[in-house]
Amino acid sequence: MTGVDPESLHGQAMLRVRDLRVTFRTVSGPVRAVNGVNFELDRGEILALVGESGSGKTVSSLSLTRLLPRNAEVEGEVLLDGRDILKASNSALREVRRNRVAYVFQDPISSLNPARRVGSQLVELLRVNRGMRSNEARNRARELLSHVGIPGESRYMRAYPHELSGGMCQRVMIAMALATEPEIIVADEATSALDVSIQAQILELLQRLRDQFDTAMVVVTHDFGVVAGIADRVAVMYGGEIIEIGATEVVLSNPEHPYTAALMMSAPDSSDEATTELFMIPGTLEESREHAGSRCQFSPRCPLAFDRCWSEWPKLKDRQSGHAAACHLDGEEVAAWLDSGGEITVSRPA
Ligand SMILES: Nc1ncnc2c1ncn2[C@@H]1O[C@H](COP(=O)(O)OP(=O)(O)OP(=O)(O)O)[C@@H](O)[C@H]1O
Ligand SMILES: [Mg+2]
Repeated sequence: MTGVDPESLHGQAMLRVRDLRVTFRTVSGPVRAVNGVNFELDRGEILALVGESGSGKTVSSLSLTRLLPRNAEVEGEVLLDGRDILKASNSALREVRRNRVAYVFQDPISSLNPARRVGSQLVELLRVNRGMRSNEARNRARELLSHVGIPGESRYMRAYPHELSGGMCQRVMIAMALATEPEIIVADEATSALDVSIQAQILELLQRLRDQFDTAMVVVTHDFGVVAGIADRVAVMYGGEIIEIGATEVVLSNPEHPYTAALMMSAPDSSDEATTELFMIPGTLEESREHAGSRCQFSPRCPLAFDRCWSEWPKLKDRQSGHAAACHLDGEEVAAWLDSGGEITVSRPA
């Protein structure tokens, strides 16, 4: 990389997101979609972003390469090997999008060109993006399809997207992402539209590719099963903030934010045969936004909220190495609430 002293990168994560803020200008006023997000991603690491619909997962992940619509105002820093993508020139940004950060979205069938064979779409990408000649690109396309577990390569090279299942199309999309040899793959709900058994296969594939190519991944999901199955670390988002972040095992076994605990209790457990009643998080995300910054955004919906939560915004604070939560309570109260299955309710201010 030009212009960066490698010594200065020593000990720093490949990707560092600093105080990221995204506001959309809309006819009904500004919408603050992301409110000061911070996280890091190391080479070969898988970070999951989890949270309810509207919590800012997609907007945060699109900000990494400035893929937002024109009405978005973005502040903060997105440092890739020390260089701020938010301030990069158009040509540097194109380079990042072409070769360094690739996306895999939810709907693979509509992301592919329906009128062109899968193989020729991959070949074209390799020719344009990697500057390969036809033969080389064709061989590389076959190799990429085999990396993503697509058998009988030539038959699939000649297939049109509609001839393939959703799972197969998602494998093709992952092959297209790999074609650019990216350092980071962002998978936004990449398995949500697929059957459970196919989901598991795609997640296994992503993990295998990470091991093979040391590709870092940001996996955006609603699903704690996906988090537990694939992520090294998890960041829980609420109202455009990360309210808890840490190693997956630590956060899932010992959540320190009531929202994380509530999300876990509200998630169906596919391994649990008995149909136990799920916890419902009261209220909506929208009502939380009204006083963002002057109090905890989750307080109107939090069963454990106390006076301080209504008057002081809780910063994301380190609890123990690498595990941080934005809550005025200590973890023991949250653990007791989780143990009670969400039974305890705490008095709210009048
Ligand atoms: N182009 C836009 N204009 C205005 N507001 C937007 C725009 N795109 C997103 N938003 C708002 O930004 C917030 C965050 O949206 P985002 O798509 O990141 O949520 P998400 O966590 O990915 O949700 P989901 O799980 O439903 O995909 C939401 O309140 C959304 O309405
Ligand atoms: Mg989204």
